[in-house]
Amino acid sequence: MKKKLLSAVLSVAVVASLLVGCGSDAGTTSSEGEGASAGGTKVGVSMPTKDLQRWNQDGSNMEAELKAAGYEVDLQYASNDVQTQVSQIENMISSGADVLVIAAIEGSSLGEALDMAKDANIPVIAYDRLLMNSDAVSYYATFDNYMVGTVQGQYVVDTLDLENAAGPFNLEITSGDPGDNNAGYFFNGAYDVLKPYIESGKLNVVSGQKTFDECATPTWATEKAQERAENILSSNYSDGTNVDVWLCSNDSTALGVENALAANYNGTYPIITGQDCDIENVKNMIAGKQSMSVFKDTRTLASQVVKMVGQILKGETVDVNDTTTYDNGTGVIPSYLCQPVFADVNNYKELLIDSGYYTEDQLK
Ligand code: BGC
Repeated sequence: MKKKLLSAVLSVAVVASLLVGCGSDAGTTSSEGEGASAGGTKVGVSMPTKDLQRWNQDGSNMEAELKAAGYEVDLQYASNDVQTQVSQIENMISSGADVLVIAAIEGSSLGEALDMAKDANIPVIAYDRLLMNSDAVSYYATFDNYMVGTVQGQYVVDTLDLENAAGPFNLEITSGDPGDNNAGYFFNGAYDVLKPYIESGKLNVVSGQKTFDECATPTWATEKAQERAENILSSNYSDGTNVDVWLCSNDSTALGVENALAANYNGTYPIITGQDCDIENVKNMIAGKQSMSVFKDTRTLASQVVKMVGQILKGETVDVNDTTTYDNGTGVIPSYLCQPVFADVNNYKELLIDSGYYTEDQLK
């Protein structure tokens, strides 16, 4: 498709989408960019890293769906290195991508590459993580990130029966990567639910580390979460004090905390939260070492993005369901939020195995 025409079509699509209020059913005729019209159209898909399980699934789901819809796909993983991601995106642009789908390593660090996309009139969809401070971003597709946090926080409230139990209970918090816009939403969602109990003293953060930054885990790395948890355990819990809850924003950080507990803690095993239902963490849920996770079905997100790609390229109204939450510093980006789902040892079979997400063998 000619880039100038595409740009004009896209502007009309954005306006049309906003005018109809961006309901999830907003007037589309076809759910995917199907074969005939997709031929010769290239979609660049930029993923942050292969190190964490979810991005491999996101990438391969999207590649399969885009190919099935008839698109050429240029899928790249950037090894969690911002400069690599910038060059990969620049290469996608120079080799003729018609649309870019980008899950950023650091939401604010892709400025140059995004400017280049804008100059070439290539629409950009921010995938899962919002691209910040750039007006090159056309749409955002993600899960309801704040809700991920509230699901975790509410689980702690219910499991400890914080309304009725006398407490106090000891809590530690491990949050995510400060360079990832999602991380603050996860933290705030959970903290907002737990705050009244922290303020009343029913939940006691023994380490005193309660802010997002104090609890952060650069690049979401398991090793960094483990190192911080080991320090907290040796400084605050080596005298036999129990930690009752460890609120972890996701599964890679939960794994770090679980490793630290295995090596450095003899007290009563805490409630541990997570997110993603990564295989190692589901195994730990089955073994009683992690209490819950939040399932974000990456197949749903990939399908939604493929649908949006098709709608953009055909100049149709793009399916969004949130036009207020995600301001990237240049204005609110029209977004589609998928629903995260609570997961634990009681429902993982139905959610993960019956739905074909994992085989039973993968969880052994
Ligand atoms: C994603 C989470 C993931 C984390 C680490 C976030 O942006 O939304 O699902 O656990 O990155 O990869």
